[in-house]
Amino acid sequence: MAPRSHISVYKALYKSFGGFAADVVAAIDQAAQDGVDIVSLSITPNRRPPGIATFFNPIDMALLSAVKAGIFVVQAAGNTGPSPKSIASFSPWIFTVGAAAHDRVYSNSLVLGNTITIPGVGLAPGTKDKIPMVSAIHALTDEETNVNDMPVGECQDSSILNQDLVEGNLLICSYSIRFVLGLSTIKQALETAKNLSAAGVVFYKDPFVIGFQLNPIPMKLPGVIISSPNDSKVLLQYYNSSLERDEASKKILKFGAVASISGGIKANYSNSAPKVMYYSARGPDPQDTFLADADILKPNLIAPGNFIWAAWSSIGTDSVEFQGENFAMMSGTSMAAPHVAGLAALVKQKFPSFSPSAIGSALSTTASLYNAQGGPIMAQHTYTNPDSSQSPATPFDMGSGLVNATAALDPGLILDSNFDDFLSFLCGINGSAPVVFNYTSQRCGMSTVNAADLNLPSITIARLNQSRTVQRTVINIAGDESYFVGWSAPYGVSVSVSPTRFLIESGQKQVLNISFNATMNSSLASFGRIGLFGNKGHVANLPLSVIVKISSNSTQS
Ligand SMILES: *[C@@H]1O[C@H](CO)[C@@H](O)[C@H](O)[C@H]1NC(C)=O
Ligand SMILES: *[C@@H]1O[C@H](CO)[C@@H](O)[C@H](O)[C@H]1NC(C)=O
Ligand SMILES: *[C@@H]1O[C@H](CO)[C@@H](O)[C@H](O)[C@H]1NC(C)=O
Ligand SMILES: *[C@@H]1O[C@H](CO)[C@@H](O)[C@H](O)[C@H]1NC(C)=O
Ligand SMILES: *[C@@H]1O[C@H](CO)[C@@H](O)[C@H](O)[C@H]1NC(C)=O
Ligand SMILES: *[C@@H]1O[C@H](CO)[C@@H](O)[C@H](O)[C@H]1NC(C)=O
Ligand SMILES: *[C@@H]1O[C@H](CO)[C@@H](O)[C@H](O)[C@H]1NC(C)=O
Ligand SMILES: *[C@@H]1O[C@H](CO)[C@@H](O)[C@H](O)[C@H]1NC(C)=O
Ligand SMILES: *[C@@H]1O[C@H](CO)[C@@H](O)[C@H](O)[C@H]1NC(C)=O
Ligand SMILES: *[C@@H]1O[C@H](CO)[C@@H](O)[C@H](O)[C@H]1NC(C)=O
Ligand SMILES: *[C@@H]1O[C@H](CO)[C@@H](O)[C@H](O)[C@H]1NC(C)=O
Ligand SMILES: *[C@@H]1O[C@H](CO)[C@@H](O)[C@H](O)[C@H]1NC(C)=O
Repeated sequence: MAPRSHISVYKALYKSFGGFAADVVAAIDQAAQDGVDIVSLSITPNRRPPGIATFFNPIDMALLSAVKAGIFVVQAAGNTGPSPKSIASFSPWIFTVGAAAHDRVYSNSLVLGNTITIPGVGLAPGTKDKIPMVSAIHALTDEETNVNDMPVGECQDSSILNQDLVEGNLLICSYSIRFVLGLSTIKQALETAKNLSAAGVVFYKDPFVIGFQLNPIPMKLPGVIISSPNDSKVLLQYYNSSLERDEASKKILKFGAVASISGGIKANYSNSAPKVMYYSARGPDPQDTFLADADILKPNLIAPGNFIWAAWSSIGTDSVEFQGENFAMMSGTSMAAPHVAGLAALVKQKFPSFSPSAIGSALSTTASLYNAQGGPIMAQHTYTNPDSSQSPATPFDMGSGLVNATAALDPGLILDSNFDDFLSFLCGINGSAPVVFNYTSQRCGMSTVNAADLNLPSITIARLNQSRTVQRTVINIAGDESYFVGWSAPYGVSVSVSPTRFLIESGQKQVLNISFNATMNSSLASFGRIGLFGNKGHVANLPLSVIVKISSNSTQS
């Protein structure tokens, strides 16, 4: 993302047991002392901290100190989606990134002898012709072997299989929960296939492995993993119905099923990208352990996070499938956050005086709202069959939208806020004063600052009781420009912005008054947008989210 940037790496977690917040806090402090400009955390707390406010957890508090020191903080949203309020990155001083699919796909499929094509995954070569298929459980050397013993069908041991039956054929293996747990591996099954001179391997999904999405795992032999349990059933039915058995003994006389693997080594480009991945954690942002909603938009943004190739340590032991490799492909919000960290470095390089909030503003107000076809960015909403459950992404799915590096480097207007603003916000939380003092050694005065009043590049109102007016202040970092303000109001809410036109000189500020009126009672979240359109081509988008609406309008039912 940012060529020639310097990367400092701090180890705070361990494969064997995870780790402790105290180590993460120590790592953040050390990074700040070392003078880093940006901190990227592909980690979140594994549970919401108890207490009056979610924001008062040790990691978020350490990150607030980092922000005070001028460090831009990026955090992965978490892979706990797609249900509402599944977000694991909470605070307004943190820049939270969700995961989107990009357009590069590695399609692979299995074409059965009965012409049915089954989609699958696998960064694997294909086969030229249709080849006979033999299931591992039908190729055992010892007929007494218990085929219901899970590992037997998983092709983890070539010594129990009969090479005469497997050689030159496609070996069918089951992909069970044991693979997810690391007890069985694709690598081992491929070795089995190689030992027996099989032409390739077909993995079908055990019905107990549900909703688990597979990355395209590299395979050196022709291979495919059928990731849907239903498709796996189609394969097994065809395979089973093609077996010729002896009437009396039920012994298999002939394996009649054939198939070819189309192969998935070559990238293919899909035009249904970007889209929010089902696992990407969603807003609204929870404010406390009682799950009240905060007036803060989370996630802030989405970035590419699915099927991401990156450098990998060949001696690393974190993934069996990528052991010995120098590159690995991974998916998750952990892959999305570093993209934004890199782009933040580019923004910081161009605008060295930008505060962390100004960097976040540049990235947010310029984010893209459209997919490759010019339609709205879609979001997956279910764990199983995610592609059939898509709908246009809301700010609770994607924040401001998909990060756009080109546009972020020329944002025109900036919405800034600083440590004192965040402190006022914390002090505005009922009962927070002693906790704030504990963490920051600063005493709270009387603060009435609410999260919706923070000068963020979004407006989120969890509870709109009749009406509410908030202000936003923009600073022009480009040349003199005339702006026109347009908006679309959330459903059940009327919006007005004042002024609707303004001329802003370079370096000057402009305050916008933004009023919301509830026009109906509803507890359904609804969304809108404010757009600031400059006559020199700058456009700043501010997403609007309103959850509960309470209207006094008695003429409405
Ligand atoms: C493959 O064959 C080698 C040599 O016989 C053996 O050591 C290894 O365990 C076999 N691999 C599998 C997965 O059975
Ligand atoms: C799988 O098959 C079952 C029963 O045949 C059906 O109810 C279900 O909708 C199918 N699921 C998918 C994801 O197609
Ligand atoms: C396989 O097919 C036979 C009939 O051809 C049927 O009796 C049997 O139930 C099938 N088994 C499975 C596991 O589908
Ligand atoms: C490319 O992907 C699309 C779906 O994303 C698929 O329909 C098409 O068959 C693929 N093409 C190849 C050559 O794999
Ligand atoms: C990103 O921003 C640039 C510059 O504003 C614009 O030309 C481009 O169309 C944007 N890309 C997307 C995908 O919106
Ligand atoms: C603040 O919290 C205290 C104790 O939890 C409660 O008694 C008080 O009513 C709250 N004040 C406001 C303004 O919500
Ligand atoms: C402040 O910190 C002390 C110990 O460091 C702890 O005992 C106390 O509970 C904390 N108070 C609050 C309000 O968090
Ligand atoms: C809305 O605000 C009014 C006063 O402005 C108050 O009387 C009423 O209880 C509030 N309603 C709710 C549901 O909070
Ligand atoms: C909101 O309602 C009040 C009266 O209830 C009205 O004065 C104000 O203009 C309204 N604002 C908007 C944005 O509709
Ligand atoms: C915004 O509201 C403030 C009072 O809250 C008022 O003094 C100011 O004139 C308003 N500005 C505009 C442009 O409406
Ligand atoms: C009250 O409802 C009427 C009819 O639906 C609508 O025209 C009017 O704008 C609403 N008033 C306010 C203050 O929202
Ligand atoms: C909305 O609910 C409030 C009570 O919470 C009630 O006073 C008001 O009349 C309701 N408004 C509408 C339009 O139903």
